[in-house]
Amino acid sequence: MVRIGILGATGYTGLELLKLLLRHPEAEITVLTTRQDERPHLADVHPQLAGRLDLRLENLSPRDVAKKADCVFCCLPHGAAARATPELLDGGARVIDFSADYRLNDAATFKHWYHEEHPDPARLGRVVYGLPEWFRDDIRKAQLVANPGCYPTSAILPLAPFLAQGLIDTDDIIVDSKSGVSGAGRTPKLAFHYPECNESIMAYGVGTHRHTPEICQVLGRIAGRDPQVIFTPHLVPMDRGILSVIYTRPIKKLDQEAALDVLRQRYYHEPFVRVVEHLPATKHTAHTNFCDITARIVQGRLLLISVEDNLVKGASGAAVQNFNVMHGFAETTALL
Ligand SMILES: NC(=O)c1ccc[n+]([C@@H]2O[C@H](COP(=O)([O-])OP(=O)(O)OC[C@H]3O[C@@H](n4cnc5c(N)ncnc54)[C@H](OP(=O)(O)O)[C@@H]3O)[C@@H](O)[C@H]2O)c1
Repeated sequence: MVRIGILGATGYTGLELLKLLLRHPEAEITVLTTRQDERPHLADVHPQLAGRLDLRLENLSPRDVAKKADCVFCCLPHGAAARATPELLDGGARVIDFSADYRLNDAATFKHWYHEEHPDPARLGRVVYGLPEWFRDDIRKAQLVANPGCYPTSAILPLAPFLAQGLIDTDDIIVDSKSGVSGAGRTPKLAFHYPECNESIMAYGVGTHRHTPEICQVLGRIAGRDPQVIFTPHLVPMDRGILSVIYTRPIKKLDQEAALDVLRQRYYHEPFVRVVEHLPATKHTAHTNFCDITARIVQGRLLLISVEDNLVKGASGAAVQNFNVMHGFAETTALL
């Protein structure tokens, strides 16, 4: 059994992760943290889990967490995650970080997009990006894995096969995404207050969203040259789910069947990427670790459409997939 710690277990990704790990035959959840000093019981924090695990959350230092866990899932906001991670690693734990702290390769890019100094800059550029469909071999050996962002997964999985084969223009990519409100986490913020976002839809972070450099960095690595990506996310009044519609320009002859074949051939063996012929909806992947993708040719452009659950394939499910790869367990354990 692998002893598991979860930092920030009170949040939405923490809850989703607990639900998955509680059915994992090789995982024993031994430590959960919160900043609250009252040591709340798990069932008080997440009533959905009443009767499932008799454990209290504690305000512990990362060093103390590392004494009780072999693998730590860090479900903290950016900044807080990179302040905790060095102590976890020094204490001998393997770490899967949910935040953006270790996804970008250099501290200057991090500062540009996040407007703060990186707390652990020396490690950047050496951290494995936790997208098993593309970087599985690196994940197997990793001490620290940067779990991908929810939007980046929905953009990278459809685009990567076409960029890897040089089939589309790297300078003409538009990613138009819609996300449910749980993407913003459980910590209350005005824009996500029910009367503010219900019965309404808005674009946000236009030209400035922090997932843009992550999408470009990973696609650049796969394409062999930096792509130009316009990424426009929208907040939609639903609990969970991401739909991305991606507009690209083919540079080689490509009809719809050929485009679907590019996806099918690349993802044929992948348990969590489903290449579909129908137009996918967020409900098709809700509460699952699947990312569903299709392709269309419209007026000479290649449109890629993907859906996923932001809390599962976009966060906690992907983390459990990485956990399975890191520990040599069947990759689908606790996920199918
Ligand atoms: N939500 C998503 O769809 C999603 C998808 C992919 C990645 N992520 C990333 O996953 C991480 C967790 O997201 P989430 O949605 O679970 O957030 P969340 O619901 O807000 O939970 C984060 C938890 O971290 C603790 N926390 C907050 N600020 C902290 C600080 N400054 N220092 C230490 N602990 C702090 C809080 O627990 P206490 O108040 O109990 O201490 C909070 O419950 C974030 O980095 C997020 O960007 C989220």
